[in-house]
Amino acid sequence: MSDPKDVFKRELEDAVRKLAPDLKVEVHVERPKNPEHGDGSLLEFGEAVFREQCASCHEEDARGDDDGFVPSLRNQHYSYLLKQTRALAENHRRNVDPNLVLFMANLKSDELTGLADYLSRLSGPVKDRLKMRDNGVVGD
Ligand code: HEC
Repeated sequence: MSDPKDVFKRELEDAVRKLAPDLKVEVHVERPKNPEHGDGSLLEFGEAVFREQCASCHEEDARGDDDGFVPSLRNQHYSYLLKQTRALAENHRRNVDPNLVLFMANLKSDELTGLADYLSRLSGPVKDRLKMRDNGVVGD
């Protein structure tokens, strides 16, 4: 099967050629920079990794814990999830348990991609998130 991107490119070029035969056109089709989802190829893998490695804290349905300390991972864009998991792994976020950072740093890149794709397709109500301030107090 041909890539829908290539088909679209060819159709667009044909259409322009019909309208303006003298014009020389070349169409470049780019994937969106901040896609809502991944390409789906690692979806099942991502789900398995989530159930095995993340559900214990973030809950089976990714809604976060009832105390509001572990955030929900629902309703978020693929690109945001990828960025956040990478930021956690690279210790770019403050107030995060060092063990969690180590844990995230050990995920392989296809695990991260699959996880982000799987999570980006989850939606539903979420708990309000409590935040931990710099002094370690959890609250609004
Ligand atoms: C030991 C419990 C625990 C496990 C296991 C865990 N997390 Fe988390 N996760 C947390 C906590 C706590 C935070 C909040 C960190 C903070 O204060 O910013 C968090 C934050 C996150 C965030 C940032 C959310 C946001 O909106 O900013 C993402 C994304 C995330 N986790 C993904 C994952 C994934 C994917 C896995 C499995 C590979 C995972 N977590 C496993 C406890 C956990």
